[in-house]
Amino acid sequence: MSLSIRQIHPVFVGEVSGVDITRPLSPEEVAAVEAGMDRYAVLVFHDQKLTDDQQMAFSRNFGALEDARGGNITRPEDKRLQVGMNDVSNLGRDGRPLDRDSRVRLFNLGNMLWHSDSSFRATPAKYSLLSARGVNPTGGNTEFADMRAAYDALDAGLKGQIEDLVCEHSLMYSRGSLGMLDYSEEERAMFRPVRQRLVRTHPVTARKSLYLSSHAGGIVGMPMPEARILLRDLTEHATQSRFVYVHTWRLWDLVMWDNRQMMHRVRRYDESQPRDMRRTTVAGDAPTTAQVPA
Ligand code: OGA
Ligand code: MN
Repeated sequence: MSLSIRQIHPVFVGEVSGVDITRPLSPEEVAAVEAGMDRYAVLVFHDQKLTDDQQMAFSRNFGALEDARGGNITRPEDKRLQVGMNDVSNLGRDGRPLDRDSRVRLFNLGNMLWHSDSSFRATPAKYSLLSARGVNPTGGNTEFADMRAAYDALDAGLKGQIEDLVCEHSLMYSRGSLGMLDYSEEERAMFRPVRQRLVRTHPVTARKSLYLSSHAGGIVGMPMPEARILLRDLTEHATQSRFVYVHTWRLWDLVMWDNRQMMHRVRRYDESQPRDMRRTTVAGDAPTTAQVPA
């Protein structure tokens, strides 16, 4: 059977069938997945029993893997997974759920805020690929919001006002909004704010989208409260249910999304039970501030 994609939400998201991503893909299959990403921005694959190495190999079809350093507070010696894998589980190295007051756990709660992966990096991520290795019994859905549809639905006046705005993004802004305010000197340096355009243009489809994220904490040249209110307002607009797809995980699902045109968040779940989710991230190719306004 050959690869096919069926749209499963009124505005975006494709469900892919007819491909085994644990094996090397043909160039035609890679091209079909890329084209599907450009169109649907989120792709769902079921029943893909991936090892970490297979997940990394599949991800490399779409570009180099992002260097995960600088994206979290876990010390190298506490990491559960090898370099190249982002651990978004609730587990420690012993395979057990992290303690309630574990700083890593508290930091990871930030994934429950709407965000785009690595928007805190000068060159932010292209794709993220998340594999369900252990599904939590209660909750833990992942939600995706289509920032192209959200942009399209803005009125012309607001589109004009925000067209050339540049935001400042940092992990200290997203975590700060949850009251996590203490960072070492080293962490402060690592989490230094970076600049991102608020309106992005997709390199292939030329569609515009809102580049929002919980990491966005200021707008260049705008007083802080005015910037925060605008960002909140836009986020509220962009995450209305008509722009949102809710993914209920099955074991061995793999979901990939285009961070250049989506936001996502995970919902609350039973943290006394494991939720083993493993992400690979495909690096972007240029800072958004390098983008010539369309
Ligand atoms: C991520 C993320 C959400 C989840 O992997 O980038 O935000 O469902 N994860 O764990
Ligand atoms: Mn994320």
